[in-house]
Amino acid sequence: MFGSPSFTAADIPDQTGRVIFVTGGNTGLGKESITQLAKKNAKLYMASRTESKALAAIEDIKKLVPSADIHYVPLDLTSFASIRACASTFIALEPRLHVLLNNAGVMAMPYSETTEGYEIQFGTNHVGHFLLTSLLLPALEAAADAPDAPAGSVRIVNLSSFGHNFAYRGIKLDDLQNHLKNANTGERYGVSKLANILHARELARRYPKITSVSLHPGIIMSDLYNAAVGSNPIMKMWFNTMSLVCTSVPDGTLNQLFCATGPVKPEDSGHYYVPVGIKDDDAWYTSRPSKLASDDALASRLWEWSEEQVRKHAPISS
Ligand SMILES: NC(=O)c1ccc[n+]([C@@H]2O[C@H](COP(=O)([O-])OP(=O)(O)OC[C@H]3O[C@@H](n4cnc5c(N)ncnc54)[C@H](OP(=O)(O)O)[C@@H]3O)[C@@H](O)[C@H]2O)c1
Repeated sequence: MFGSPSFTAADIPDQTGRVIFVTGGNTGLGKESITQLAKKNAKLYMASRTESKALAAIEDIKKLVPSADIHYVPLDLTSFASIRACASTFIALEPRLHVLLNNAGVMAMPYSETTEGYEIQFGTNHVGHFLLTSLLLPALEAAADAPDAPAGSVRIVNLSSFGHNFAYRGIKLDDLQNHLKNANTGERYGVSKLANILHARELARRYPKITSVSLHPGIIMSDLYNAAVGSNPIMKMWFNTMSLVCTSVPDGTLNQLFCATGPVKPEDSGHYYVPVGIKDDDAWYTSRPSKLASDDALASRLWEWSEEQVRKHAPISS
């Protein structure tokens, strides 16, 4: 049953000695996650697109947590070159990674494409994170293989959404470009968020030493809604009203903090969590993942399709 949050930021265990990598940590849920993890002594990598926002966010966090150990790494998930550069920078600095928090995301975007030609929401939210995760897996495996690593302590956490239910036609991998070109922005977002769940499921199957999960954080009126609200005064009024009734950013961050550091058991790898810390098969109500999100054959095909995209756009070696 869905009770009151049983996990709060105070419950995050001490993270001394642990390295945590957060995509899109310069605002919203990512920034708040980094703030709370800094309080618990994690060494943090903020992988962000907009440098000015990242540096300002780090300054803000350091005002609250003067001992915060945060390192900015540039990352634009719409460009394979940027993702590869980001991963190389990290790998050169850290042999081990304990938590990868795939948090960055875009929503309600008009149709456009990433550098490699993927629809912007699917390209950013899934394809970019798939490549980044693949490049960081050796560091995650090294952390999991360390003799002193407690079982299940190395984690990959994908921010999905209840919005994965908008992917009512699934993911048409045989003709994805046409599928997404002919879908509205809500369905396109849904497909990207469905892919986030399937990615975590397949990671769990392929990398049993790493605990990989996905989650819905709640409805939080963050910058994520900027594209939907735009300059429309009615949408602005709606946004302001919703801000009063929706989950706050600190509360909206609890599910990902739970998944990254809380008592998730190794056998729970692959699960989808709904607010807060409640996994799919315990959730009897509407936030249960869709049938498509529980389709292991689709998860496996998505993985193979994504690997093929990475191969197709491999850097040309000299
Ligand atoms: N808020 C909600 O109600 C809600 C509900 C369900 C799921 N979620 C999921 O939760 C996650 C965090 O959302 P949020 O509410 O914190 O949103 P947010 O405040 O808009 O933050 C999104 C973050 O993603 C980054 N980002 C966007 N495009 C990027 C790119 N190409 N490369 C690198 N970083 C990029 C942004 O950085 P820049 O500012 O530099 O672009 C920003 O740091 C998302 O994955 C979202 O889908 C949120």
